[in-house]
Amino acid sequence: MQKLLASLGSATVGHDRRGPVCAVIGAQWGDEGKGKVIDLLGEHYDTVARACGGANAGHTIVVKGTKHIFHLLPSGALHPHTTVVIGSGLVLHLPTLLEEIRLLKEAGIDVLPRLFISEEAHIVFEFHKAIDVVLEEERRKREGKGIGTTGRGIGPAYTDKASRDGTRMQSLKGDMRPILERHAVRVQRLYGVAVDSEKELAALVPAQKLLKDRIVDTVWLLHGKLQQGKTLLIEGAQASLLDLDHGTYPYVTSSQTTSAGALQGLGLPPRVLTACIGVAKAYCTRVGEGDFMTEVLGETGDRLRKRGGEYGSTTGRPRRCGWLSIPDLKRSAMINGFTHWNITKLDVLDEEVEIPVCTGIASDGKAEWKKLPGWKTSTVGITEFAKLPKEAQQYLQFIEKETGVPVSLIGTGPGREQMIVRR
Ligand code: GDP
Ligand code: IMO
Ligand code: MG
Repeated sequence: MQKLLASLGSATVGHDRRGPVCAVIGAQWGDEGKGKVIDLLGEHYDTVARACGGANAGHTIVVKGTKHIFHLLPSGALHPHTTVVIGSGLVLHLPTLLEEIRLLKEAGIDVLPRLFISEEAHIVFEFHKAIDVVLEEERRKREGKGIGTTGRGIGPAYTDKASRDGTRMQSLKGDMRPILERHAVRVQRLYGVAVDSEKELAALVPAQKLLKDRIVDTVWLLHGKLQQGKTLLIEGAQASLLDLDHGTYPYVTSSQTTSAGALQGLGLPPRVLTACIGVAKAYCTRVGEGDFMTEVLGETGDRLRKRGGEYGSTTGRPRRCGWLSIPDLKRSAMINGFTHWNITKLDVLDEEVEIPVCTGIASDGKAEWKKLPGWKTSTVGITEFAKLPKEAQQYLQFIEKETGVPVSLIGTGPGREQMIVRR
């Protein structure tokens, strides 16, 4: 671990000395296992900050058999020493956030005194969720299918933000009634959705009480920490192929999910980033609609889904499953500037006889494949690279060679300790 931490770097920017800043970013269509690696590294960082998205994310951590799923809180929150930051780039459904805080407290972890929420983050109201449903229905009628959103109001909340009609966390410190009354008129006119202002207001009361003192200017907070030489771990949400600009548009989410988006979402300049870990499954999954060139249907797809437990941690939907795509990994590595890979869920491939990998796309648009030999033995819980079967080592080396990015962390099970840490 110490060698890996050293390779995640420390930086000098101009004449300022600053602490290392490492981002963790999904390289595929989400659910790669970002939560697990954030939790693992979180032990060694002072501050963990979520940068973008909302409760469409579901980040799972398994500690001694107990499962924690985070939708809004950073996954480093389980470590009692961490400062936990929710950045400007997020859209926050407050009842969901309060429920997460409550569940953690029930598990003996009091996150509130060390939680800081950006006053610039936007609020997701109940009416945003209602609009999400209405827009999906319209798409289904118009085009035969929707985007397959999580229904968490993410698109409508970011739409309000971009049209300058959104409500920021700062407003929670004042009277929310006139704000909701204005939303009610606007939302009825634009979407034909009725806003129950009283219900919305009532849902905000506990958040106003509990979070008022936790809403701050997180830009000053984070920069202050860096000036003090503190270490910062940035938690990306969603993933590169779901990015609003660079993903498989329109089947994407409504935020910038890349390392650049994460820095923007926290108010940090590009030069502070000392490392960027790309997280990718040893195969690939996707929830919702949209292109998935390496998808496998039928028995093989079902086998991957079953072995990988591929059901969404936010919506419970079965995830579509398929093989690894090297062109997608390369593109994600370019966009994000990955310095390290965390290849997760290697153990899910343990029973495969051979493993197809997409290595390129031919001029006719069809996938080009290479078949790598499987290992047909259990890798569950292995923590040393040298103890992996030869074929598994070769599989990982193939990814390194093709993408030019070292595979530094390898997941061999859902548990916190089921990880190979290399360098
Ligand atoms: P995230 O959104 O990227 O944080 O990922 P999710 O938590 O949505 O989905 C990843 C799922 O895979 C969770 O159920 C994890 O517990 C599980 N997981 C993570 N790493 C591994 C691994 O190396 N092996 C196996 N078998 N499961 C893993
Ligand atoms: P984490 O952080 C997987 C997908 C949805 C849908 C599309 C748009 O857990 O990896 P949205 O509700 O954002 O408008 O839905 O994006 N999606 C995710 N898929 N993991 C996620 O987050 C996702 N967040 C959004 O399934 O296809
Ligand atoms: Mg997830």
